[in-house]
Amino acid sequence: MNRSWMFIPGDSDKKLGKAQDLGADALLLDLEDSVSEGNKADARARIGAYLASYRGASESELWVRINALETSHALADLVAIMPAAPAGIFLPKPAHGDDIATLDHYLSVLEQQNNLDQGSTRIISLAESALGALNLGTFVGVSQRLVAITWGAEDMATDLGATNNVDEKGEYFFVHQLGRANTLMVAAAGSFQAVDSVYLDFGDQDGLRGDCQRARREGFTGKMAIHPAQVAVINECFTPSEEEIAHARRVIQAFDASDGAGTIGLDGRMLDIPHLKQAWRLLAAAGR
Ligand code: COA
Ligand code: MG
Repeated sequence: MNRSWMFIPGDSDKKLGKAQDLGADALLLDLEDSVSEGNKADARARIGAYLASYRGASESELWVRINALETSHALADLVAIMPAAPAGIFLPKPAHGDDIATLDHYLSVLEQQNNLDQGSTRIISLAESALGALNLGTFVGVSQRLVAITWGAEDMATDLGATNNVDEKGEYFFVHQLGRANTLMVAAAGSFQAVDSVYLDFGDQDGLRGDCQRARREGFTGKMAIHPAQVAVINECFTPSEEEIAHARRVIQAFDASDGAGTIGLDGRMLDIPHLKQAWRLLAAAGR
């Protein structure tokens, strides 16, 4: 489970050069929206070379965001990067689960061609168009490769013809909150990791921390980052604390000692089976 997913624009030697030192669980080497049309081919070559040199030697998982399947770039992106065996592919702007299935098929062929284990390349995706959002439920069960989903309010706002995605108080409009909530539900339904969207105000560490804490309480287990300063905060917020681990152990012990009871009292509060499952999940996330 990756806590921090850090975007690195694929056309920047400087940013690629820093990427290994950022402490991110996963790097999202980007060929899509952070790279202009004229720089696509150049970025493809840079990312291919980057993967080839750090493959197997990177502390961070190396993922690549390709261009949308409907563009003329997507296949060229995949052909260029698959020989260097990325950990996974970020598929932007899918319209339907069928797009995930199409990518799955492309990856099967390219894995075969490049002597990679079948099914080894994972996928993260999201709904960031109106059609994609309406079809988000079709992501469930479509590919074993799909391990994580996220959400995004920037492209969605553009697709909606909106001039902004937040109201006068800076809160996301309801349509984006709906997309965020649907992401959580589809992640649970499909057993995908729920990864929270980017926090754009990269100078505001306190704001980021609050955003991460809220996301984690709600069920997200990681978050995308756009700036080096965000990685440590995200990693910290999505790591279970010692207090949380101790509490989870106490919950499990109390159930163990309860002779098979489905509901017990602990510290004056009722606990039942969902709380026991939460405790187990927390220990699993903590790797204990
Ligand atoms: N990856 C690697 N290094 C990065 C980085 C990134 N995503 N973002 C910034 N840095 C480096 C900068 O090169 C700079 O290095 P320096 O200190 O040697 O000059 C340092 O971190 C501090 O950067 P800063 O000056 O605060 O930011 P900036 O104005 O250079 O860049 C952004 C701001 C938002 C353009 C930049 O952070 C960025 O490109 N983020 C990723 C955007 C992206 O991929 N978006 C698509 C998904 S939404
Ligand atoms: Mg985008």
